[in-house]
Amino acid sequence: MIRPILRYGERDLHRASSEVAVFDEQLQGLVDDMVETMYAAPGIGLAATQVGVPLRVFVIDLSVGRDPEGLITMVNPVWIEREGVQLEEEGCLSAPGFSATVVRPSRAVVRGLDRAGRERTIEGTNLLARAFQHEMDHLEGTVFIDRLRGIKRDLIVRRIQKLKRGGRW
Ligand code: NI
Repeated sequence: MIRPILRYGERDLHRASSEVAVFDEQLQGLVDDMVETMYAAPGIGLAATQVGVPLRVFVIDLSVGRDPEGLITMVNPVWIEREGVQLEEEGCLSAPGFSATVVRPSRAVVRGLDRAGRERTIEGTNLLARAFQHEMDHLEGTVFIDRLRGIKRDLIVRRIQKLKRGGRW
């Protein structure tokens, strides 16, 4: 089932989420829905907070479903390593139409559980490292716009407020 994606400014998107305690049917349904929602958007990553569920779960698929091995599901992820810096243009399904250059690590290692509760550690460089940081941010209630400073941030926030006032957000 495709779930509605919260947009920047909606309260639940900006809240930190809690650890998953039980790997039950409800969690399996959530992961299935998140994958379906991500592919339908289409996007390369989605966090549970973006569909209004305050749990530490994210999915990433840089191939957007083209590579059957491309799907990464992470439950209760933690940082193992982060290093380097990259500066690339980035967007978010919760901020459609907006993008900005965000400072991200160039290499990142994340450890977490898969949807069955098995531990796994995944290393990402370049785009995957960026996706890891982007989705880990969502679990803390942080959207890429919150990582911007000064005029860049103000401009986007003001444009979103204008869209909201016009009922188009
Ligand atoms: Ni996002």
